[in-house]
Amino acid sequence: MERRPFIAGNWKMYLTLGEAVQLAQAVAATSAACMDRDVMVAPSFTSLAAICAATQGSNLLVGAQNIAWESEGAFTGEISAPMLKDLGVEWAIVGHSERRHIFGENNAMVNRRLHGALNGSIQPILCVGETLADREAGNTFTVLENQVREGLAAVTGQQMARVTLAYEPVWAIGTGKTASKEQAQEVHAFLRQLLANLYEKNIAEAVRILYGGSVKPDNIDDLMAQPDIDGALVGGAALKAESFDRIARFT
Ligand code: 13P
Repeated sequence: MERRPFIAGNWKMYLTLGEAVQLAQAVAATSAACMDRDVMVAPSFTSLAAICAATQGSNLLVGAQNIAWESEGAFTGEISAPMLKDLGVEWAIVGHSERRHIFGENNAMVNRRLHGALNGSIQPILCVGETLADREAGNTFTVLENQVREGLAAVTGQQMARVTLAYEPVWAIGTGKTASKEQAQEVHAFLRQLLANLYEKNIAEAVRILYGGSVKPDNIDDLMAQPDIDGALVGGAALKAESFDRIARFT
C-alpha cells in the first residue's frame, strides 16, 4: 500500500500575523516543489484567514491546531468546523499533547473534537503519545491503546479514510530528544496493528501515521525510511522556512 507522505508544521503559539503570512508563502513555494507529498501548516487561529487568502490556489494545506465539537453555541474561546471551512481550512489537529497535558483535555473530549471535525468535513489529525513516566513504567503501549481506542470511539471504517494519526511521544516534544527510528517504527507498527484489529487490515494499511517530537533536518531522512512512518508533525523546526523546507524535501 502506497501512502502519500505528509509533512505538517504545527506552529503552536508562535508568530504574529505578518510573520505567519510570510512563512506560509515560503512554505507554499516548498509545497509547490513537492508534488508527490502533502505539505501542511497549522498556524494560530488568528492567522488562518490571512494565510488561506495568501496561499489560495497553491497546493499548501492549511490546518487548525484544535477544533470545537459543536458547530456553534455558547462555547467561549472555541472555534468550530463551519468557521474553519468558511476560511478554506480543511484540516485540524486534535488531542495534541499540549492540549492534553497543559489544558486538561482527556480522551473523551478529544473524541468529541474528532467527531466535530468529521461531521464538519474537516480532516482530523489525532495525536497520541506517552509521557516519560509512562514509558519508564512500561506502560507505553497500554497508554497508546487507550488513547487510540477512546479517541476513535464511534468512528466508522469509512470515516477512517479521512483520519490521520500522529505519534508524538511527550518526552520528545520540544526537548531535542527525538525517538530513535527504531523506537518510532516500533510504535507506528503497533498503532497500525491496533487499527487493523479495530477496523480491517486494508483500512489500517491506508491510514497515514505521522511521527512528531524533535523532528529536524538531520533526522527526517532516517525517520521517513521506516516502513510505518508516513510523515512528520514538526514543531520548532517548522518555524524557520529553511529547516522546514529541508524536512519537506526528505529523501
Ligand atoms: P517539536 O518538533 O518542537 O518537538 O514539537 C513537536 C510537536 O509537538 C508537533 O506537534
